[in-house]
Amino acid sequence: MKILMVSSEAIPFAKTGGLSDMVTALSLSLAKLGHEVKIVLPRYYSIDRGTQQLVPGAMGVPMGGGEEWSAVYTAPLPGSKEKNPVQVYFIDHEIYFGRDGIYGVPSEPDFIDNPRRFSFFCRAVFQLCRKISWFPDVLHAHDWPAAMAPVYLKFAERVSGSLGGFEKTASVFTIHNLGYQGIYSKDNFDYTGLGWDVFYNAGFEDAGMLNLLKAGLYSADKLNTVSPNYAEETKTQAHGFRLDGVLRYRSADYTGILNGIDTGIWNPMKDKYISAHFSAKNMAGKAKVKEELQKEFGLPQDSSAPLVGMVTRLTGQKGVGELFGPTYGSAWAICREMNLQMVLLGSGEAWCENEVLSLASRLSNFKAVIGFDEKLSHLIEAGSDFFLMPSRYEPCGLNQMYSLAYGTLPIVRRTGGFVDTIENYNEATGGGTGFMFDNLSPVSIYNTVGWAVWAWYNCREHIEAMRTRAMKLDFSWEKSAAKYVELYDDARTAVFGKTGNSGSGTAASDIFS
Ligand code: ADP
Ligand code: GLC
Repeated sequence: MKILMVSSEAIPFAKTGGLSDMVTALSLSLAKLGHEVKIVLPRYYSIDRGTQQLVPGAMGVPMGGGEEWSAVYTAPLPGSKEKNPVQVYFIDHEIYFGRDGIYGVPSEPDFIDNPRRFSFFCRAVFQLCRKISWFPDVLHAHDWPAAMAPVYLKFAERVSGSLGGFEKTASVFTIHNLGYQGIYSKDNFDYTGLGWDVFYNAGFEDAGMLNLLKAGLYSADKLNTVSPNYAEETKTQAHGFRLDGVLRYRSADYTGILNGIDTGIWNPMKDKYISAHFSAKNMAGKAKVKEELQKEFGLPQDSSAPLVGMVTRLTGQKGVGELFGPTYGSAWAICREMNLQMVLLGSGEAWCENEVLSLASRLSNFKAVIGFDEKLSHLIEAGSDFFLMPSRYEPCGLNQMYSLAYGTLPIVRRTGGFVDTIENYNEATGGGTGFMFDNLSPVSIYNTVGWAVWAWYNCREHIEAMRTRAMKLDFSWEKSAAKYVELYDDARTAVFGKTGNSGSGTAASDIFS
């Protein structure tokens, strides 16, 4: 199959969170299965210019105000095989992407022209395909910045009278985070170049505003999210962020597929960022990495103290309010009252960065680095004994899978992808792979960290058994990539009827004209 990934992030080019890891890892796995995969990204300023090649000739993109011009650059995705490389294309637009920041900068966290930036990006995707004469069987769009792509496909490209080429392209849309929807003033709609009938028919309208994600959810042929449990949760009012009704409406086309992890990068036996390696059979290296981690953060090199690690975006989704909230967060009590060490790497909301730094200055057993640091994130995953993620909601969560792979036991709220990846500790049998709580409150976090620390000091044999069990779990991408292939097939069948693998079904123009 020919698959085009439309995303605002993909490692190593642009990353703010797990979306970036997922898009790259899935693309590489699909290529390994023999599929032809291309990724399209905006050409942000932060992307290294050195390795990119210009695709000759400017490209016109028809937007509401008239045609706009873009250049296109390309580079192979690092890690892909020469035999079947995943090619990445970068859409260049100096005004939209020639600046610092992916979605914003600290002084303007959500750029005011984001609806324009990402509409332009999604519209350019189709012109790119024409430019390189390559038309995908499946267009796979990720999260709200790419949500306009399935809309353009359905309402501007797969219709009679369009320039053609996409008659046999089906779309799949993946929700990585329902909390971010791309809601803007509807004054931005004219710029998309779509008619106002589409504003209503595609479901853009949201209480008088323009909701990009919502339109993507209505327009894509198939939808999924990144864990089976989150797929169920999002159909409820409690987790649906006001779009649960849309997801229930589309439930026949909506599934959950658990993310995998890139075991080439996140692997305790060959991780390039740590000084000693280890496996379920030989854990000696983990003790060394713990020492390295303690040294790095200036903590006493004490092997007997349980070390709790965190690597996180410092934002409400991650439960940081309950942990670090001034006056009521439980981090202070946890560190003061328990015999443990704690380290944090993260960045995000200013109030939280400040609280974390203030706490670190007052506590000797809590250390923090504010920033984004790939190497340090590996050191924390590998060297910690426990990994704390008290998320309010978690569509999948990659960090808990990384920590399980390194024998670092997660302490989490029973929500989203955690339910699909972690089994709660059972004191009677020593079973489980982590520690879970239900209600998100400072007290629950305090109690559950306390529970893990209690097990550390009193039932060490349970901890060792849980570690071995965790490290034996298989989160590799192969299984999940195969499920995406099924979903792609389903999407094509849903739109074009039974096609086999060659895309020889009813032309979409017959259906949509
Ligand atoms: P989310 O995408 O919601 O932030 P995930 O657990 O799916 O949560 O993925 C987060 C990814 O981002 C992981 O790869 C994690 O290691 C990485 N990450 C988050 N914050 C940082 C940071 N400050 N430095 C380095 N990596 C980070
Ligand atoms: C989002 C979610 C996270 C998920 C990631 C990759 O950022 O918050 O839970 O793991 O996307 O799919």
